[in-house]
Amino acid sequence: MKQQTEYIARQPDSAGNIDYSDAENAIWKTLITRQMACIQDAACDEFLSGLELLDLPDDRIPQLREVDRVLEPATGWKTAAVPALIGFDRFFELLSQRRFPVATFIRSRKDLDYIKEPDIFHEIFGHCAMLTNRHFADFTAHYGKLGVSATLRKGFIWPGCTGLPWSLVWCVTVTVSGSSVAVSFLLPVKPVMPSATKHRLALLSLYRF
Ligand SMILES: [Fe+2]
Repeated sequence: MKQQTEYIARQPDSAGNIDYSDAENAIWKTLITRQMACIQDAACDEFLSGLELLDLPDDRIPQLREVDRVLEPATGWKTAAVPALIGFDRFFELLSQRRFPVATFIRSRKDLDYIKEPDIFHEIFGHCAMLTNRHFADFTAHYGKLGVSATLRKGFIWPGCTGLPWSLVWCVTVTVSGSSVAVSFLLPVKPVMPSATKHRLALLSLYRF
């Protein structure tokens, strides 16, 4: 993973709080307001119910412990504050421990529509909702464990592999009863996930269009 970014993760105070500025909170408000408006007829029920459980504030960036208060009882997951970018070793280690890495910065307005580095909005709004789903949460932890074991193999090359399983999970669409449905299943991509076939079909109809 290329360790270059203009963003720096915000550090919490001694009580674990991050004091985001009004400008940063306003960016969160812009992002969540427009995303909520466009996902209602596009996201699957699992994603929407996960968001409902998270009950994210729309006027400020949430503290990670607020997210943890929902994730932990639901599926045993917690967030983990990390720098803007982390290496593969750390990434998979955290996933294997049911901890989802969240960089604690938020994008600037010039990057409102697209940002290369995952920021706190991307991680919490985009990922944490599905981590309230038991099947997806278990799959993600399993993926992390496979990543750890693969990383331990000498000579294994990660670049390009980390996004591959996700792509396979998200991208397949079929037409059911006249409407298109994105069906998630996991192809056994060796050596990234040699024993993952048992998890295929763990999730269905993530998105419908
Ligand atoms: Fe992501």
